[in-house]
Amino acid sequence: MGKATKSPSAESRAAKVLREAFESGRPLIYVHTSEEQRVGNILREVGQRLLASAPVPKVVPVWTWSLTEGMRSAGGPAVPGSQDPRAALDFIAAHADGAIFHLKDFHEALREFPDIRRRLRDIYESCRDRGKFVVISSPVRTIPEEVDRSLLFLELRPPDLIELSDFLREEGGPASEAVIQQLAPALQGLTLDEARYALRRALMLGPLSADSLPAMLEEKRLLVNRSGVIEYISDGTQIGEIGGLDGLKNWVLERRKLFLMGDSVAAEIVPKGLLMMGIPGCGKSLAVKAIASCFQLPLYRVDMIEIFSGRHGKPEGAFVAACKMMEDLVPAVLWFDEIEMGVTSAASDGEQGRIFAFFLTWMQEKARGLFVAATANRIDLLPAEMIRKGRFDEVFFVDLPLEAERVEIFKIHLERRGVATAQLELGQLMEFTKGWSGAEIEQCVVAAITKARLAETTITTQDLVLTAVKIVPLSRTMETQINKIRDWAFERAVRASPRPVGAR
Ligand SMILES: Nc1ncnc2c1ncn2[C@@H]1O[C@H](COP(=O)(O)OP(=O)(O)O)[C@@H](O)[C@H]1O
Ligand SMILES: [Mg+2]
Repeated sequence: MGKATKSPSAESRAAKVLREAFESGRPLIYVHTSEEQRVGNILREVGQRLLASAPVPKVVPVWTWSLTEGMRSAGGPAVPGSQDPRAALDFIAAHADGAIFHLKDFHEALREFPDIRRRLRDIYESCRDRGKFVVISSPVRTIPEEVDRSLLFLELRPPDLIELSDFLREEGGPASEAVIQQLAPALQGLTLDEARYALRRALMLGPLSADSLPAMLEEKRLLVNRSGVIEYISDGTQIGEIGGLDGLKNWVLERRKLFLMGDSVAAEIVPKGLLMMGIPGCGKSLAVKAIASCFQLPLYRVDMIEIFSGRHGKPEGAFVAACKMMEDLVPAVLWFDEIEMGVTSAASDGEQGRIFAFFLTWMQEKARGLFVAATANRIDLLPAEMIRKGRFDEVFFVDLPLEAERVEIFKIHLERRGVATAQLELGQLMEFTKGWSGAEIEQCVVAAITKARLAETTITTQDLVLTAVKIVPLSRTMETQINKIRDWAFERAVRASPRPVGAR
């Protein structure tokens, strides 16, 4: 496969924006971006589409101007004497045919010389309705007031899947279309240059394949880490590593189908996200990691403590920036861990209110493909609007595990550490572990295994029981608080595990 596979119907988001701007009669566009080369590619695509459906279809040629090379058409020699910015504008004004002119390095001249600004306004008149278009691309935003009205200002968003797939087809070496479709989402949110680094990193390990995914994602990890408030988590926890919580697990498995269908399902039923609240140490964080693996999506964790630390400017600004940044990284699972931190932190009341108000609106409007998983321990601190139905697809309450769930959790943690459980009578542990959290069960398993290893024996049921009786669970020392959480959640959330009547 190669360039030939590029279907003419697939127009990239960036090309569409520019084409539509041209078609609506905007001959002067200022594109804010550091990706000069990419703008060139996009303009060539626009040139091919602009008059493709005209009575006499034709390709609109793209001319490029830079301070060092002057004005030249694709592959052609530079027009003599056109290095001067003024000469460039004269050339455009005198040009008889329709064309797209891409001006690089033009912002300096625009800022410095009044006659350039004047000339540009004339150009506006001479290009309008003549099929001539001027695009200034620049990494800085300097638009003098006089030309502000004549220029359409555009921010170039990172490449979309169409552009990224084309990029992989062109630069990724031999790879099947299936592999390209699988890898392109891993590059979303990166600039084309960053995508190129990611691609090189992957190609060092061999030709592109499904195994290239982690190497491709590494670039994104670096990108989000630079933000200081978002962390890329590559964990790989599988849903089978969660003991109990069957209600939650079933919900996730059902949603998985919808989520993977993505664009083909109506917007209302694409999963938006879920809120999990409940008793600490019962598997909320664990579940989020398993959800990301289950949906086959990268997981990003927003650190609410960092956001409110003041190290990244005003909390509100840092929070908004983090949410916006994530929209470019779809598809992904975005995890707001202990989201109530936003409420209990030292920030001023007004700020917290604004952050939550922003969050709730953003939840409604955010890009599709972004699944939000929010977790909270102190649910009673969250604003009521947050829990109301419709914000999240579901609000789950994660309670202390039931008897059978506790046994399952023992089994998971023993087996994970290489202990065969067939000979053990884990059922015996039920009565010694009333009111335990999953984290406490894990702690018990680790302590018992360590003890057995030191004694150089294999672990027995008795070892586990003896360790268990010494552990005082948090639910006993904090009974009142836990009952309060339960009562509060009872009417506001769906239980993550079905509770049989009277069970403990
Ligand atoms: N339901 C469970 N199944 C298996 N392990 C669990 C479960 N709940 C808790 N654990 C263990 O306890 C640790 C801490 O749980 P975590 O998910 O961080 O709790 P939370 O986020 O609810 O406070 C987990 O990493 C896991 O090892
Ligand atoms: Mg947690």
